[in-house]
Amino acid sequence: MLQGKKILLGVTGGIAAYKAVEVVSRLRKAGAEVRVVMTKEATEFVTELTFREISGNPVTVDMWAPVQHWNVAHISLAEWADAVLIAPATANILAKAALGVADDMLATTLLAVTSPVFFAPAMNCNMYTHPAVQENLEKLAARGAHIIPPGTGKLACGAEGPGRLAEPADIVATMEKFFKSGAQLSGVKVLVTAAGTIEPIDPVRYIGNRSSGRMGYALAEEAVARGAEVVLVSGPSALTPPAGLKNFISVETAKEMREAVLREAETSRVIIKAAAVADYHPKTVSDQKIKKNDEELSIILEKNPDILKELGQKKQPGQILVGFAAETQNLMQYAKEKISKKNLDFIVANDVTKPGAGFNTATNLVKIVSRDGGVEELPLMDKREVAKRIFDCVLPDELKK
Ligand code: PMT
Repeated sequence: MLQGKKILLGVTGGIAAYKAVEVVSRLRKAGAEVRVVMTKEATEFVTELTFREISGNPVTVDMWAPVQHWNVAHISLAEWADAVLIAPATANILAKAALGVADDMLATTLLAVTSPVFFAPAMNCNMYTHPAVQENLEKLAARGAHIIPPGTGKLACGAEGPGRLAEPADIVATMEKFFKSGAQLSGVKVLVTAAGTIEPIDPVRYIGNRSSGRMGYALAEEAVARGAEVVLVSGPSALTPPAGLKNFISVETAKEMREAVLREAETSRVIIKAAAVADYHPKTVSDQKIKKNDEELSIILEKNPDILKELGQKKQPGQILVGFAAETQNLMQYAKEKISKKNLDFIVANDVTKPGAGFNTATNLVKIVSRDGGVEELPLMDKREVAKRIFDCVLPDELKK
């Protein structure tokens, strides 16, 4: 899977820098072309010459060095790469990348990169578990970076715990898997909905719900990573839409979401509805701010269209329709009822009363239920990982190339 791929390897200053030599060797054996950027600190552990010989290419360290072999600067290196791998990634480079600091060749190159970036952290276990490092890893992952988790065991500093650079073979296998899955949904249109709809009461007030969009955005991100043409229809969300979308459609109300979804659905092969659509909207919307007085205020609510049900009625042959069920009781019973009522292929059931599950959390706890009654129960995991597992589960065999 790495044949002809251009991998830019960033080596930072940790004892595990010596293992990066094996990473280069394995990447090249797998068919990749490798260029190496080292921090000055990394050269204290392994020489530039070692990486030049093993990669067969000049190595870049100093931003200001007179140009000898590589006649263009960090921008060209960034543009050249099909993927960037930082191994080992110290706490320092993670912090710089999370903040966007550009004070050396590697950090500056990272800011200019638009291709996928992988970080393989390696450091002392107390450093690795420090909240600052964990927050930086979360921040980078939320921006789409791939984190290759370190192993656990005896570390070079003598301590024992997580922080050992992942094995070079595993690092290369992760990249191979990425390029394999990157082609999986090429030419396949995937429609994802995310976040909650809001239903206006007057010009300043609305009825809304607690959906942040995190689950839907993670699904869209995963579909992009698999090479799909992704359309994301989203209610209001503070999140930045994932890079690489074919189309991002921002909506507010259920009515607007319905219009966008029905327009896009006809040509979509896979549809995943993670949005929390309001079931009702105020029957009348005041065109002026409603003034308070001493009386009670009643708002009459009218039913919204059930978009998912409509999609189920219009389902095209071969189309995969996946709904979500956010429940606070009778999870499986309600989820199964929704599958048949809405003519779905799968439903992702989340009990939103469970800690770490459902609305506005980084994680989710779900059961993926298929039309034929099969249930895949997942442990509590990051929403990005849940998204992966959902795609693994719902794609038909011919798309699982
Ligand atoms: O966005 P996050 O903060 O990450 O939270 C994620 C989530 C909890 C919102 C998500 O995991 C989830 O469960 N989404 C579905 C929430 C929901 O509205 O469930 P429901 O059981 O009310 O609806 C069932 C399905 O019908 C959903 O796929 C929904 O998109 C769809 N629906 C519902 C009502 C409606 N009028 N039209 C619809 O299409």
